[in-house]
Amino acid sequence: MTLLQQIRAVWDPFLDDEMVRMIRPSSDPKYGDYQANFAMSMAKQLGKAPRDLASELVIKVPTGPELMFEKLEVAGGGFINMTLSASFLQSALRAMSADAQLGISPPEKPLTVVIDYSGPNVAKPLHVGHLRSTIIGEALSRIYRFLGHTVIGDNHLGDWGTQFGILLYGYKHFLDAEAYQADPVRELARLYVHVRSLFVKKDEDSEDDGPVADPVAEACRFETAKLHEGDPENRALWQQFMPHCLKEIHDIYERLDVHFDTEHGESYYQPQLASVVEDMLAKGIAKESQGAVVIPNAKGVIPQSDEERKTEEPPALVRKRDGAFTYTTTDLATIRYRADNYQPDRLLYVVDFRQELHFRTLFAQAARWGYGHIDMRHLKFGSVLGKDGKPISTRKGGGFELGDLLDEAVRMGASKYAQTRKERLERGEDVPEMSPEQQRDIAEVVGVGAVKYADLSSNRESNYVFDFDKMLATEGNTSTYMQYAYVRCRGIFRKGGIDADALRASQPTMIIGTAAEKALALQLLRFGDALQAAASGAVPHLISAYLWDLAKSYSTFFVNCPVLKAETEELRDSRLILCDLTARVIQKSLHLLGIRTVEMM
Ligand code: ARG
Repeated sequence: MTLLQQIRAVWDPFLDDEMVRMIRPSSDPKYGDYQANFAMSMAKQLGKAPRDLASELVIKVPTGPELMFEKLEVAGGGFINMTLSASFLQSALRAMSADAQLGISPPEKPLTVVIDYSGPNVAKPLHVGHLRSTIIGEALSRIYRFLGHTVIGDNHLGDWGTQFGILLYGYKHFLDAEAYQADPVRELARLYVHVRSLFVKKDEDSEDDGPVADPVAEACRFETAKLHEGDPENRALWQQFMPHCLKEIHDIYERLDVHFDTEHGESYYQPQLASVVEDMLAKGIAKESQGAVVIPNAKGVIPQSDEERKTEEPPALVRKRDGAFTYTTTDLATIRYRADNYQPDRLLYVVDFRQELHFRTLFAQAARWGYGHIDMRHLKFGSVLGKDGKPISTRKGGGFELGDLLDEAVRMGASKYAQTRKERLERGEDVPEMSPEQQRDIAEVVGVGAVKYADLSSNRESNYVFDFDKMLATEGNTSTYMQYAYVRCRGIFRKGGIDADALRASQPTMIIGTAAEKALALQLLRFGDALQAAASGAVPHLISAYLWDLAKSYSTFFVNCPVLKAETEELRDSRLILCDLTARVIQKSLHLLGIRTVEMM
């Protein structure tokens, strides 16, 4: 059980669930460690004065220096302020320190969760727009897994779409054979950009040219259609392109430390699509309409007004008049495949907010098709903005390629690191010697970590501004700050010549005597609650917010509580355990966000 769950369990016999959930960490230590105002809302129902009711409740829960609560106080108009006892905190810290899982116990009912993330269209290099799905999805998969759930991370690659028509057309008309020989990925990317520039309509998302003639776009669509129909030449070319496209993408995943359990792209489901449509027709969920196959909405109607279109689930096309299947058909096949193969409790899609309507519709259709028992959620996210406030990915010229962006982050990480080293030396700090290779590795860890942390510390649904200087700052809530905090905690052990593993194994008695020690202890013990909150809302930024609070508590502790020079050996060991736990929690939290740490900087 997490700390908050333990506290709530003590009150559980006297209150209903809703009341129990009102227990929260106090905003200020002067109101105790935890606080609740349930007496106020209960009092109304019972026709009593809230303060009287609070006083009646308080005597039901025993208190004392050896129990969980040292004291319970009634305050204000019926608040109950709860103060945890030092002995409770001490034994909870000892248990946490001895546990490789840092006090996270397996869930009562482990869930099977499929997470659909990254899913880029592979015919062109990854750009900034792919960053969020990839790293948010990776963080969620690590978080759920650490909490004890079964996770299947699936990369639903866009490897069958209209982009391949563009490559096929480009290859057939504009190939520079020598360039292709030398660097196929670059040449394919060049062909893509070149062919796109010949389109009349330049909008990336638009698939049809409406009343405007767009001959190149038309020719590209023709190539896609031939690929889908099984044209041998186009199939062979597709087979030839795929490894190159994937190599480029996999190199970036490697660099981002992103790993999938399966990678079934859209092409994988192609042989299953006809049977999806037939099954839906047979069950009366889909209907023929003017030669096409359509799933009407739940009410069986096609919305007429804009208002209706906004609120009603729209009908969806699953087979076009020309026989082609759609994005929706593929997603329905994917749901059936996942349901059959993994028996998931939950299906999470980490996809751009612009696909909200697609998923809302998809989930409603899947429920009618018999998959309503699976909890399906679209975890949408906001855009990455440039300093001018406009989304980077929609820039003219295609926006940043992700590989270039990471190179730039690492270059800046290296210069930031060199500068910080110099400043630390000037301040007379003890800065370790580093070989050029070690410095390069640190630059990679710092640069890539900065990009990921900036993203994951922003609320998932909000936009955020991409700003290298801000994300690489050594002060404030950044990965660089956290990486240094980690290194500083570890440095104490090096400086004192202390083996952290041995100290931990000796299970020293914990001493929580000062306010700074208590604040740090509480913050450490809240690790499990932070993870639970991040997992239940699928919002990794709560882990970053938690880390920031932890780092602040640690720095107050560090200023006020001598560690290696503590008055007694017992006190020194107890404080060393606090340092060790802080380091472990920072490292684990960063790891859950997909961010690496180094032992020395
Ligand atoms: N390839 C799609 C795109 O780039 C995203 C795929 C999301 N996953 C899914 N199952 N639809 O827009």
